[in-house]
Amino acid sequence: MNSSEHSSAKSDRNRIAWITGASSGIGRALAIRLARDGWTIAASARTGSALEMLVAEMPGNIRAFPLDVGDRGAVHATLSAIEGELGEVTLAVFAAGTYKRETAMTFEAQVIREMVELNIMGTVNCLEAIVRRMTSRRCGHIAVMASVSGYTGLPGAAGYGATKAALINMCQALYPQLKARGVRLSVINPGFVDTPLTRKNDFPMPFLISATQAADHIARRLRGGRFEIVFPWRMKVAMKLLRALPDRVRFAITARMMREGE
Ligand SMILES: NC(=O)c1ccc[n+]([C@@H]2O[C@H](COP(=O)([O-])OP(=O)(O)OC[C@H]3O[C@@H](n4cnc5c(N)ncnc54)[C@H](OP(=O)(O)O)[C@@H]3O)[C@@H](O)[C@H]2O)c1
Repeated sequence: MNSSEHSSAKSDRNRIAWITGASSGIGRALAIRLARDGWTIAASARTGSALEMLVAEMPGNIRAFPLDVGDRGAVHATLSAIEGELGEVTLAVFAAGTYKRETAMTFEAQVIREMVELNIMGTVNCLEAIVRRMTSRRCGHIAVMASVSGYTGLPGAAGYGATKAALINMCQALYPQLKARGVRLSVINPGFVDTPLTRKNDFPMPFLISATQAADHIARRLRGGRFEIVFPWRMKVAMKLLRALPDRVRFAITARMMREGE
């Protein structure tokens, strides 16, 4: 048996998925979708009451492990607790994240620091914990939630887009070394998804999909084991084209995304 057959045989026996950001939006919908597909879910987020409501939807298949991903020690302790109670995590999806719009006129270090701390460092804390375990077992699949906004800078997303670009870059850097050690890595780049995060947006969101549709895309593509999971396809095409355009043309388009007064 070669190492990838060995890895998938192990994964089939032991379908334990750890999802952060599982109390709301995409993470919550994915927890339910994967639980229906037969996975045992360790669901993490800060709000215990929201996690309990999730658990109540599929008791026995979903377990709550409340966690602030910004607390590195707590991340390690929580993963130890998950593996102690449920067994080895074979799929880890790091979806905890936040978004705040800011512009050149409202540009504030504190707002950006909060996004960097959660979106980048929160994910890094989780990666540190799981990478050590999965590489030593030479088995497992990690998926990091980034965004198509990490492809190119968009007005209003200087901080958010920068955090997601950093995650995409980090995953590209880690991929070959993890693959060589039997661990799969995916980066998930959704377009607009209807969740509490985007409900505060007061601008039109093209190709908006539901959290359930997003979870379906993710669950299906995780099975395929591809590096990049990007959806919906129209947003994928639009953003990949935008990224490839010469600066002059791209700025002519992104200037139209500015609001009056910006
Ligand atoms: N919605 C979109 O259009 C869209 C598009 C592209 C990418 N994304 C990305 O998808 C991910 C999920 O977004 P969403 O739209 O589903 O947002 P959401 O509904 O606001 O969910 C965010 C989740 O992150 C958790 N979270 C926040 N801070 C945390 C912390 N310090 N520790 C642990 N958990 C924490 C929240 O729970 P608690 O508050 O209880 O901790 C919640 O479960 C984010 O990374 C986001 O950037 C979203």
